[in-house]
Amino acid sequence: MKTRKMEISEIASKIDPIVGMRDQWYLVTAEKDGRVNALTAAWGAFGNVWEKKTVTVYIRPQRYTKQFMDAAGRFTLTFFDGHQQEMMYLGSHSGKDTPDKMEKSGLTLTHVDGEPTYEEGQYVLVCKTLYRQAQKPENFIDPAFAEATFPDHDYSVMYVAEIEAAYEIEK
Ligand SMILES: Cc1cc2nc3c(=O)[nH]c(=O)nc-3n(C[C@H](O)[C@H](O)[C@H](O)COP(=O)(O)O)c2cc1C
Repeated sequence: MKTRKMEISEIASKIDPIVGMRDQWYLVTAEKDGRVNALTAAWGAFGNVWEKKTVTVYIRPQRYTKQFMDAAGRFTLTFFDGHQQEMMYLGSHSGKDTPDKMEKSGLTLTHVDGEPTYEEGQYVLVCKTLYRQAQKPENFIDPAFAEATFPDHDYSVMYVAEIEAAYEIEK
């Protein structure tokens, strides 16, 4: 697989930083003990904090991928041109119940800088977790908004991660 290293800030001109994640989705993928798991995500942000170029992702505590992210301390974000069907599959099956979900996804696992991604991907960000915090209902200013957003009270865990490298996956 051929990749082109990008300037990290270039990703914001490829993926609209406000609505790109929401509309296009992406995969959060991490590896633990030689096993890989991924989930589909639509919430998130690119940013600048602590003099680092960062991504922020919001992962609910019950996600199996979270265990991989926490063990590895690193994860990737992979953006695709299309492949909505595969992302819908990965976003509606948990590795907890479907241990071979990665094989069944139809995507081809590969690695960039030792971190898992996909040959079918378009852009991949290699990310190192800097800060992890569970959201708390009492910290939402409007309790009705918190209740409407998290009716099952499975408040997201927020991960702020340094983007260590960005690549375009060339076809
Ligand atoms: C379009 C879409 C967006 C999603 N966004 C998120 C998200 O931002 N955070 C999250 O925790 N789950 C999100 N999910 C749900 C997870 O992808 C889904 O629960 C997945 O099956 C979890 O897999 P896992 O348990 O193997 O990690 C989204 C699902 C879809 C289809």
